[in-house]
Amino acid sequence: MQEHQELIEWTSVEEVILNRRSTRAFKNEPIPDFMIRRILEAGRYAPSAGNSQPWKFAVVKSAEIIEAMEKDAVKVARLFMWLLDYNRPSFFRRVVLKPYTKLIIRLQKNQLHPVPFGLLSEIAKGNAPVFHGAPTLILLYEDVRGVSCPATDIGICGQNMVLAAHSMGAATCWIGLVKLLMYLPKWRKFFGVTYPYTLNDLIAVGWPKVKSDGIVPKEVQLVDWYEGGMNSRPRVERQGE
Ligand SMILES: Cc1cc2nc3c(=O)[nH]c(=O)nc-3n(C[C@H](O)[C@H](O)[C@H](O)COP(=O)(O)O)c2cc1C
Repeated sequence: MQEHQELIEWTSVEEVILNRRSTRAFKNEPIPDFMIRRILEAGRYAPSAGNSQPWKFAVVKSAEIIEAMEKDAVKVARLFMWLLDYNRPSFFRRVVLKPYTKLIIRLQKNQLHPVPFGLLSEIAKGNAPVFHGAPTLILLYEDVRGVSCPATDIGICGQNMVLAAHSMGAATCWIGLVKLLMYLPKWRKFFGVTYPYTLNDLIAVGWPKVKSDGIVPKEVQLVDWYEGGMNSRPRVERQGE
């Protein structure tokens, strides 16, 4: 069986998985509605714990709304950096506030991890956009009443959408930074984000403006293979080499 698998080419699904990249430059022309519906369908058919389907979707195609989202997200990014960037040249900030800001960063360690923190800083300086000028945004609401871990279900659902979009030649980018807007009651009200829903991610979708630079290397994973009995140690395989 294994020999047989090694002989065959990548399947079309594997090809899409391997070639998909996040795109951050989109053409103005949106993808047609029928494609958006097909992408939503891929999400709707995602597996979920207990088949609870703890999601709700919204499609934003209005340039006016997307522009307003962009402006407000940048404002929140600026506020965050004003509050949290303790390296700014101010004695009060560097010495007095530093321990408190460090504590906040530690408590919000996922949200304020160096990668999003670095991006946030660039957004605040006006060097990077939040929604990348995408003509269409698919909002992924999470129903917190979902069985087990609804965030996992949302990830699977969104990835189904992303892969479906790429299989049709469209480009996507997950935007976790939509969370910036959720600090503003105005946007929570606008998009109806009230219990039981939260909005942590959206998917920007459109036609790519640039050609992706192809498959990028990913970390090699050390995978334990348990093939012997209870008393034997797993064989470690370097996956990806
Ligand atoms: C849940 C999630 C949230 C993300 N949020 C953002 C985001 O807010 N802005 C952004 O530019 N990219 C975002 N990304 C894209 C990642 O940066 C990207 O997937 C990663 O760098 C790997 O690159 P690749 O998608 O081209 O393989 C997000 C990805 C995921 C899965």
